[in-house]
Amino acid sequence: MTFEKKITVKLSGDAHSRIDETPDEQFYKIPRFVTHIDTGAIDAVTELYRKRIPVDTVVLDLMSSWISHYPEDVNYHRVVGLGMNARELARNKQLDEWFVHDLNSQPDLPFRPNEFDACTICVSFDYLIQPITVLQELGRVLKKNGVLIITYSNRVFETKATTAWLSLSEQDRKYLIRTYLQESEVFADIEFLDCSPVTGDPLYAMIAIAN
Ligand SMILES: C[S@@+](CC[C@H](N)C(=O)[O-])C[C@H]1O[C@@H](n2cnc3c(N)ncnc32)[C@H](O)[C@@H]1O
Repeated sequence: MTFEKKITVKLSGDAHSRIDETPDEQFYKIPRFVTHIDTGAIDAVTELYRKRIPVDTVVLDLMSSWISHYPEDVNYHRVVGLGMNARELARNKQLDEWFVHDLNSQPDLPFRPNEFDACTICVSFDYLIQPITVLQELGRVLKKNGVLIITYSNRVFETKATTAWLSLSEQDRKYLIRTYLQESEVFADIEFLDCSPVTGDPLYAMIAIAN
């Protein structure tokens, strides 16, 4: 699906401020063994991953928790998770390795250049306060032509989402993500997909290819 408008979102000085400016480690100290979207939306994420992530590759689940939504019947060579809560990540059966790492205090990724074939960020992108730096880091750790899949819905921890995200409608958030992707200058072929199930939570995806 294409974008209807050629909008570039103008980011104001407080675009990445948040209601709760305390360190993220406080908010994520307690594990949350919940699903952040409903079953229909999770199935839509899984189907998207099945179609877009090549099998037998090395995959990074950024902003990961106790579930990653990868198809159970597909083999990946190695799956690495990065998130904020050790107990959640330790329970995630799809991860071969995991790291606790706060991307808001330290946007540099603890990985080698060209380490990954694909990266997924599921219902979490709205919490990044340095999204362009994180995207540039993803450009470094993804191989050329590696795929980035960012999915989002309409649910949010309001106190931790950025002002930029909260100020836009559900329909216009794709333009914000596209603006970040363009400004990072490390991704091309940006696609938007509405993968929403017939009933349940909406599910949108932005897909981009590393240069
Ligand atoms: C709404 S949950 C989504 C979790 C998971 N991706 C899923 O689909 O269920 C938001 C996730 O973002 C991660 N996160 C939030 N702030 C972060 C930060 N500053 N650095 C790294 N990860 C962060 C949290 O660890 C949490 O797992």
